[in-house]
Amino acid sequence: MSLLTPEWTAGLYLFAAVCFILALKGLSSPKTARRGNLLGAFGALVALVTVFLSMRVDNLPWILGTIAVGSAIAVPVSRRVQMTQMPQLVALFNGVGGAAAALVALLELQHSSEWWSALAIAFTILVGSVSFAGSCVTFAKLQELMTTRPVTFPGLPVAMGLVVLGALAAAAWLVMSGSFVAALVLMALGLVVGVLLVLPVGGADVPIVISLLNAFTGLTVAASGLVLGNVLLLVAGTLVGASGTILTREMARAMGRSVGGIMFGAFKGGSTAGSTTQSDRPVRSASAEDVAILLGYAQRVIVVPGYGLAVAQAQHTMAELASALEAKGIEVSFAIHPVAGRMPGHMNVLLAEANVPTESLREMDAINPEFKNADVALVVGANDVVNPAAKTTPGSPIYGMPILDVAAAKQVVFLKRSMRPGFAGIENELLFEPQTTLLFGDAKDSLTKVLGAVKAL
Ligand code: TAP
Repeated sequence: MSLLTPEWTAGLYLFAAVCFILALKGLSSPKTARRGNLLGAFGALVALVTVFLSMRVDNLPWILGTIAVGSAIAVPVSRRVQMTQMPQLVALFNGVGGAAAALVALLELQHSSEWWSALAIAFTILVGSVSFAGSCVTFAKLQELMTTRPVTFPGLPVAMGLVVLGALAAAAWLVMSGSFVAALVLMALGLVVGVLLVLPVGGADVPIVISLLNAFTGLTVAASGLVLGNVLLLVAGTLVGASGTILTREMARAMGRSVGGIMFGAFKGGSTAGSTTQSDRPVRSASAEDVAILLGYAQRVIVVPGYGLAVAQAQHTMAELASALEAKGIEVSFAIHPVAGRMPGHMNVLLAEANVPTESLREMDAINPEFKNADVALVVGANDVVNPAAKTTPGSPIYGMPILDVAAAKQVVFLKRSMRPGFAGIENELLFEPQTTLLFGDAKDSLTKVLGAVKAL
């Protein structure tokens, strides 16, 4: 028996939908993001409770048990995850969402009698499976369980073409016959499409693919709303699909790439150049004291933070070093690349945590013309975002990505632990340039030593 009238149910769904829209609005700025996130979660809770109160629910113990198991896994995992591992978590949650939508559609097949609902089911199964398998591969790449470099093989475009044709044929078979076997074949082919779609994507482009798969999951949820006759799923799925598509396009634009180029570039046999091996060519390395002297006698210093700063949790020491330099009358700015780190806005969040004033943070386009006036560019745990191969080496996995123009500075200092490459797995020629000095070591240790030496100057 349902406890809510249809009017109340519709009203509560509308309320939840408004929460989702306000949540997205809140997420558009770091200041309101936390509130936006909580509002979205509240909307989801309202929606869930409304479902339970508005219809007769079969198998209640199973449903509650499943929710308990899911929460018991998700809550500790989300609490414990490092900020640098957030994209992997998002990829995993997104994949699970796609898989859930595909499984629900599979089960709804037995209740479907209309052709349009079979079409929505076929769409949900196909795109949900693509999203699940693709998200698993992005997770493996980000977690470095497999190579982050593009994986291609001869005949990949043909294999992809055949699997896509097979999936479309299975979808047509499903719509015409409503056959369960057709649905299973479609699901299996969707999984293969997901794997083949993401394998050739190079490491540096993985964040964009996560966002795209997120949009796919939104569309599958919207389609399952159609299948189940649930307006809220339709609205929520459309919101995720639309915002995911906008985010994908914005990120691709920030990296100077086209979404098509990212997804299908490697199919043309392009972006696999580069080397993952450590080079043994000579470089100029220095001690913390040498770096302190370079910094202490500079007038303008531009800091380029990257993934290594986050891994070393060196943001507080970095902020202290910036203050110590400023106390000596040196101008210090932070150059923020849109994909530095491992998630959008990663460096902004990290430096805000260390109370670096927002006026000191400069976006890429604004700071690039200023590198030529900088005495020192201090690159702390960044690599791909300053790698000139993005401009000079066609075929490199990062070719075409706008970079921070650190090579224009009078001196460049890299703080890193070894000669290992960054996320994209390619060597950085800038490390071998005459104006470049390397201080080897964990960023926090190195910055602590440099800070001590700067204070002693
Ligand atoms: P990376 O190119 O990945 O370079 C990180 C550098 O940090 C490496 O040179 C590494 O060298 C150094 N490092 C690691 N741990 C360190 C530590 N404890 N102390 C000192 N140095 C350390 O980073 P990036 O320049 O920030 O570029 C980001 C890359 O990630 C891009 O390719 C981007 O596409 C990709 N990506 C971005 C996102 C988003 S949305 N931001 C999401 C996923 C992937 P050593 O190992 O020698 O120390």
